[in-house]
Amino acid sequence: MRMVDLIEKKRDGQELATDEIKFIINGYTDGSIPDYQVSALTMAIYFKGMTERERADLTMAMVESGDQIDLSQIEGIKVDKHSTGGVGDTTTLVLGPLVAALGVPIAKMSGRGLGHTGGTIDKLEAVKGFHVEIENNEFIDLVNKNKIAVIGQSGNLTPADKKLYALRDVTATVDSIPLIASSIMSKKIAAGADAIVLDVKTGAGAFMKTLDDSRELAKAMVRIGNNVGRRTMAVISDMSQPLGFAIGNALEVKEAIDTLKGEGPEDLTDLCLTLGSHMVYLAEKAGTLEEARIMLENVIKDGSALDKLKVFLSSQGGDASIVDEPSKMPQAKYIYELDAKENGYVAEIIADEVGTAAMLLGAGRATKESVIDLAVGLVLRKKIGDQVKEGESLVTIYSNFENVEEVKQKLYENIKISTTKVDAPILIHEEITQ
Ligand code: URA
Ligand code: CA
Repeated sequence: MRMVDLIEKKRDGQELATDEIKFIINGYTDGSIPDYQVSALTMAIYFKGMTERERADLTMAMVESGDQIDLSQIEGIKVDKHSTGGVGDTTTLVLGPLVAALGVPIAKMSGRGLGHTGGTIDKLEAVKGFHVEIENNEFIDLVNKNKIAVIGQSGNLTPADKKLYALRDVTATVDSIPLIASSIMSKKIAAGADAIVLDVKTGAGAFMKTLDDSRELAKAMVRIGNNVGRRTMAVISDMSQPLGFAIGNALEVKEAIDTLKGEGPEDLTDLCLTLGSHMVYLAEKAGTLEEARIMLENVIKDGSALDKLKVFLSSQGGDASIVDEPSKMPQAKYIYELDAKENGYVAEIIADEVGTAAMLLGAGRATKESVIDLAVGLVLRKKIGDQVKEGESLVTIYSNFENVEEVKQKLYENIKISTTKVDAPILIHEEITQ
């Protein structure tokens, strides 16, 4: 087989065979096929697309390029959740304990990554003592015992995707639905879950800015998952404004605690109940989605979801007393309010820009080397559709710098006030099962 012939085939719009896709991915992983040939191929894919079969083959070739996590020693149907990323997205911290409280096994592999705030692991570091450096067998035992544990990312998961994603990044071929869908799904499948619930974000703060693009990506991922034998569904949710109120690490842990108590923001609660219902249903712990939702509401009301969070934190060395006393988490030195300059209604809260404001405070990583300040961030006091009066706070700013003028400036520019009434955006756009 020659790579040049395969590039030509895709360039001319033909379908690549299973063994051809394997040849490409194996050769790229072991270095026998150079970057320049793979760049030409990804550009051809960008223009010609991939069939459903090619997408599934590409995904599995990338899964097989590295380690695959074996969760077979965990009892029950393991369900994983993946979010395509947004601003202040606290869902993982809420959903883990919430569905584990109903006996759904959550065996989560989580990373750090770049962004406006840290990844789930960074956020959990706001809990003193909590660590994810555990052995595989301890991880499996913890999930069997408590139904929830989190382990750090294995170094050799989908190396083909790592290489390919980095190449796409510098060859203008990230924006291709088949390539994005197989990239994300390869990582989820290698992580070992039996069933996958996808939270595909849409709007200004999301990777996919329009509903049409988000729907196309969601469908592509759902088809890949189901075609390779993992039950997969997707929820398309709003990310035009940040989710919930808190954007920051310790602040989001506090928000997750509030939500597990039934006192969280309405949008975060609703999204967690929606995603959670699908997880419980796929795990076959409920016969219908409606039944699953009622069961989830009950474990919030009776306190067992909150208890599950305590067990989860302490089983991995964390100080669970922060659940009752969140002020034991890192605290910012300075607290400022961003006062509204006029009367009206909140019309826009541009999610990615508000996320950047949190990053300026030190809540996220701009480069791999950046150190996160766990204490700092933003808490929104108003969301789109809310009425505001001049002088009322729009946002509380938690900072370890005394001077936050640049942050305030950025927030004023990206929180738009209208004189006429504005409707709150729709939170859940669509649920896609096939
Ligand atoms: N996220 C991924 O993991 N892969 C992509 O290709 C795009 C976003
Ligand atoms: Ca939040």
